[in-house]
Amino acid sequence: MPDAGKRITLQEYVISECRDKGQNQGLESVIMAIAEGSRRVQQQVQQAALADALGVTGETNVQGEIVQRLDTASSDIFVETLSQSGQVAAIGCEEIERPVIVEGDTSEGYIVLMDPLDGSSNIDVAVSIGSIFGIWQKNPDETVNDDSLLRPGNQQVAAAYVVYGSSTVLVLATKHNVCGFTLDIESGRFAVTHPSIKIPVECPYYSTNEGNNKVLDGPTQKAITLLRDKYSQRYVGSLVADFHRNLLKGGIFAYPADQNRKDGRLRLMYEANPLGFVAEQAGGAASTGYERILDIDPVELHQRTPLILGNKDVVEDTVAVIRGG
Ligand code: AHG
Ligand code: MN
Ligand code: MN
Repeated sequence: MPDAGKRITLQEYVISECRDKGQNQGLESVIMAIAEGSRRVQQQVQQAALADALGVTGETNVQGEIVQRLDTASSDIFVETLSQSGQVAAIGCEEIERPVIVEGDTSEGYIVLMDPLDGSSNIDVAVSIGSIFGIWQKNPDETVNDDSLLRPGNQQVAAAYVVYGSSTVLVLATKHNVCGFTLDIESGRFAVTHPSIKIPVECPYYSTNEGNNKVLDGPTQKAITLLRDKYSQRYVGSLVADFHRNLLKGGIFAYPADQNRKDGRLRLMYEANPLGFVAEQAGGAASTGYERILDIDPVELHQRTPLILGNKDVVEDTVAVIRGG
């Protein structure tokens, strides 16, 4: 078993990536806050059943979705670690209706949009779930308010996600690189295991909820049929897990608009934008089916979007069919 102690740690990587490459040093603190929160969430996820922490809270969130206990627990953990970093001015969260404006002097701070626990339908059945983060740099002379969080994805300075699966993997995308780290449970530190991730040229997989086919419009049904004819279906039902497999092995994820969800199901600010940033930095693409995800000017914190995400050429071919009619 290789000694994780001899691998570069996340802290060492982030120092070289942020300090040496001219990123504001504060970004280091934000990323380490995400890592510490992920370490705590991983413990909660692993022990939830034993701690009677599975199941629902009985509330519904701003999305109108039933809230899982671990959704709330994860949200609380990340709000705490991000707020304590001293570098986060505001947090937008899937589980919290309004932005969390962090007190204190964070004039040079960052704005973080997050999905604290993605794949909620899989929590109680021990299937991989995750956390997703988009990171924007606050304008120095700006007093943060709710509108400060409505930034297009092309202004992100970094994005990250964590998969709580057979191992706990944190993937960090900056403007220079996409790097994967695995949590060493004993030390509680993340160590480099995927130094420089590029989405493979080959595309063996497509990921979509085939149960929605009957409510897709004609061109979109045709696009999904073409994917089904060419690739193997892999669909976990946790966006982060489906995306992580496709990022490492090649693949395309599609959750298009349909008759029941005219704006799509997934959320722009803390699912599509962060994973779209990671995908593009790894040589992939992210589209609504009609426009680049990262170019969307957001109007609402929790707005939804259709999402076609993965291998650039396959995304482009799929978008052409969806648009071509
Ligand atoms: P969340 O648990 O944060 O609400 O996200 C769930 C999302 C995403 O993870 C997944 O791809 C999608 O819901 C699955 O939707 P369907 O169950 O409609 O396939
Ligand atoms: Mn989600
Ligand atoms: Mn979620």
